Amino acid sequence: MHIKNYLLLLAFACLYGCESPATAEESPKEIPFTLSTVFADQFVVGAALGVKHINGTDTLGQALVAREYNTITPENMMKWEEINPEPGVFNWEDPDAFVEFGEQNDMFIVGHALVWHSQLSKYVEEITDPDELLTAMKTHIDAVAGRYKGRIDGWDVVNEALNEDGTLRESHFYKVLGEDYLTEAFKMAAAAAGPETKLYYNDYNMWNADKREGAIRMIEKIRANGGRVDGIGMQAHYSIVGPTIDTIEQSIIAYEKADLPIMMTELDVTVLPNPWDLVGAEVSQNFENSPYMNPFPDVLPDSMQAVLADRYEDLFQLYLKHADNIERITFWGVNDGHSWLNGWPISGRTNYPLLFDRSYQKKPVYERVMSLIEQEKGENNYNYQKQANEVN
Ligand code: GLA
Repeated sequence: MHIKNYLLLLAFACLYGCESPATAEESPKEIPFTLSTVFADQFVVGAALGVKHINGTDTLGQALVAREYNTITPENMMKWEEINPEPGVFNWEDPDAFVEFGEQNDMFIVGHALVWHSQLSKYVEEITDPDELLTAMKTHIDAVAGRYKGRIDGWDVVNEALNEDGTLRESHFYKVLGEDYLTEAFKMAAAAAGPETKLYYNDYNMWNADKREGAIRMIEKIRANGGRVDGIGMQAHYSIVGPTIDTIEQSIIAYEKADLPIMMTELDVTVLPNPWDLVGAEVSQNFENSPYMNPFPDVLPDSMQAVLADRYEDLFQLYLKHADNIERITFWGVNDGHSWLNGWPISGRTNYPLLFDRSYQKKPVYERVMSLIEQEKGENNYNYQKQANEVN
């Protein structure tokens, strides 16, 4: 065909919808191969950060967080005793930097924790008058949640209010105010943080059936009294041997039925022996040189890396199965060296509970967790760009 005729024909055809051959077939989406990107369709994934991760002290850790995660929680810097140690005294510098870091990286920013019996300022523990304590709670919540209104996306409003049998913990707040303090805390947080901010109840051992039933009862009451609770935080401090996947699943299902979206808020898996299993263990002692209680002082052997990978694989398979009701996975710490489990429940041990090692490198468990998404990759036409392991 003569070129002129061809162009005429093409122009005519374009009147009825011209499609360039280049766009006819969608090219794979190119995205980095990181925890937050591979699970982007299921949940946000993140970590608890220390001050060193946002103030330029631990630049490798900070780079790792920016690369891998899309949600952050402050490990300690927003706890009452840190942010508001005396009446009217507020330490804003680190929390402000934390929120700015989250915003710069377009992350879901979590605040932790407004009302908790532990790491509480001494001045609050000394208040025995109910009206005075309510006023102190309101002043604290107004100041802290109010300062970050519209910037912090979700708050752990009440932390650890329950005993293992599902009854309410006899905390300072409970002793002075009775159970009303719970509804009050959620009402105050809703008013200060605004309607866009998610409000959570957060606790450990939320897989325990008695505690779970107690949590559901407690939250139903808070809701009936006009408090807004948007979800539940299962802290997820686990070990390589327990709790069982089945037990955790039963709780996930129960929370779903109770209209409670779930956050796995403080995920880590200890690989060390439990001192409470050791009859007569003196937990105040330092266990640095104990081959039994601190069996891997230098390196985690391959056999144990595999056990850890198996455990995380089981957990993430469960999380993926219930992704419709799980909104967030937050690891409690950035890498093994940063984890609180090196010093708790006994000090002087070397633990390996996270996906990144002490040199910020990906552990075998990281690859295992990421491999769970292989199938998704194909289905969604994603072209993940594997990155160098090093963070520098
Ligand atoms: C609890 C708290 C966290 C943190 C961990 C351990 O789970 O909610 O803030 O203190 O214990 O570090």
